[in-house]
Amino acid sequence: MTGATLRVRAARLPGRPDLVDLEVRDGRFTSVATHDPGTTAAPADVEIDAAGALLSPPFVEPHIHLDATLTAGEPRWNGSGTLWEGIAVWSERKPDVTRDDVLDRAEQVLRWQAAHGVLHVRSHCDVTDPRLVALDALVELRDRVRDVIGLQIVAFPQEGILSFPDGEKLLEEAVRRGADVVGAIPHFEDTREDGVRSIEVAVDLAERYDRLVDAHCDEIDDEHSRFVEVLATQALRRGMGERVTASHTTAMGSYGGAYAYKLERLLSRSGINLVSNPLVNLALQGRFDSYPKRRGLTRVKEMLAAGVNVAFGSDDVMDPWFPLGTANPLLLAHTGVVAAQMTGQAEIAETFAMVTERAARVLALGQGYGIEAGRPASFVVLPASSPMDAIRRQVRPRWVVAHGRVVASAEPAPARLRWLGTEVDVDFVRSRDEAGTGWRAATISTDGGAGSTD
Ligand code: FE2
Repeated sequence: MTGATLRVRAARLPGRPDLVDLEVRDGRFTSVATHDPGTTAAPADVEIDAAGALLSPPFVEPHIHLDATLTAGEPRWNGSGTLWEGIAVWSERKPDVTRDDVLDRAEQVLRWQAAHGVLHVRSHCDVTDPRLVALDALVELRDRVRDVIGLQIVAFPQEGILSFPDGEKLLEEAVRRGADVVGAIPHFEDTREDGVRSIEVAVDLAERYDRLVDAHCDEIDDEHSRFVEVLATQALRRGMGERVTASHTTAMGSYGGAYAYKLERLLSRSGINLVSNPLVNLALQGRFDSYPKRRGLTRVKEMLAAGVNVAFGSDDVMDPWFPLGTANPLLLAHTGVVAAQMTGQAEIAETFAMVTERAARVLALGQGYGIEAGRPASFVVLPASSPMDAIRRQVRPRWVVAHGRVVASAEPAPARLRWLGTEVDVDFVRSRDEAGTGWRAATISTDGGAGSTD
C-alpha cells in the first residue's frame, strides 16, 4: 500500500462554493485545491471523478452502546418502553454476555456504520459487571478494526458508581484495561449527594489517568435533576472543558427559563460538549406524561446559540432501550431537524455538522479529522448537491474512503416507475437541487497507474 495514490476531481465540500481536487498519498491528503479542469497530472492509482458530488469528512458517532446492541427482545422485550425498564431488561441479559457474543454483535453494527460512512465511533460499555467481559471484548475489537474505524470506549457504570457494589473499583479497573473515556450516570445514583459524588469520582479518575469524560447526565424528565451544572463546574475549575461531554441532558427540556439562562452561561464558559440522541430521547422520554407530552430533548438550538458544542448520537440500535435502528447518521440529522425544530436552511446545514465536525470535537479528534493537507484521507462521497439534499433524501454514500482506501461503495438505486405510458427513474431529486452539479455521473477507476490499492 505504501506509495499508493488516490485523486478525487471536482468534489463539492460542505459550505464551500467552488469545486475542489484532492490528492492522497500514503493514506493522507497531500493537497486540496480549487478544481482545475485542464490539469495534466499523471494518473493516480485510484481516480474518482466526483462530478460535483458532495465530499464530506467521515461521519462521527459520538454516542452508541455497542456492548448491548442487537439484543432487543433478549431475554424479553421492554413492555413499558421506559429507560428504567430498559436498564432492568439489560441487567437480566448481562449474565449471558460473553466475549464472542459481544464481538459478533458489535462488529456487525460497526460494519453497518462503515457502510454509512461512520469512521469514528465512541461506544459506551457497561462496566457494572464484575467480569468486565464486554469491556475486554471491545478493547480487542478496537485494535482489530483500527485501519477502518477509530473506536473510543467509555467505561460506563450503567447501574451507578456508588449505588453498585464495588462500582468505583470496577470503573478504575476498566480504565486500567484500556477504556479511553470515563463515564458516570449521576441521575441514576440513589441520592442527589451520591450523584454529585459520582461525578467527582469520574472526573478525578480521568485526571489521574489522562482520559476524557463522558457522563450520561440528567437523562430524565425530572426538572430537579441538575447534575450538568456539577459536571460543567468541575470541568471549568479543572480546566478540562472540551475534554468533557454531558450526554443526553434531557431534563434541560423541562427546566424553566430562569434556570436555563443561568445554565447557558455556565456551559458556554465551561467549554464542555453536549450530545443529544434525538431518536432515542424522543422514544424514551415523556413516558410518564399524559398530555401535553414533552419532546424529551435537551435545548439543542438554544445551547448552539450560546456557543456550546452540541452533536447528535444514535445511543441505541436494536437493544432494550430502542428496538429499531441501523446507526444511520443522516437519519439522526433528519430526526434532529424535526425534534429540535431546526428547519431553517442554515439550521439544517448545522445538523449535518452535528454528525460530522461537531461530533469530531466531542471525540477530541483534532488534527486527525478534516479535509486538509496532512490529515488522514478519510472521507465520504455522497450523491447529493448539499448537506441539506443529503439529509432530505437520506442518500447512501457513493464511496467511503478510510486512510486513502475505498472501504465501501454503493450504486445509487432510483425507483423505476411506469407513469402514464412511459418509464421514468425516480430518485426524489427536485430539479433545482441539481443546478450546477452532475453528481449522477460520478465515476471511479482503479487502473490509472501501476499497482493496486490493496
Ligand atoms: Fe446512552
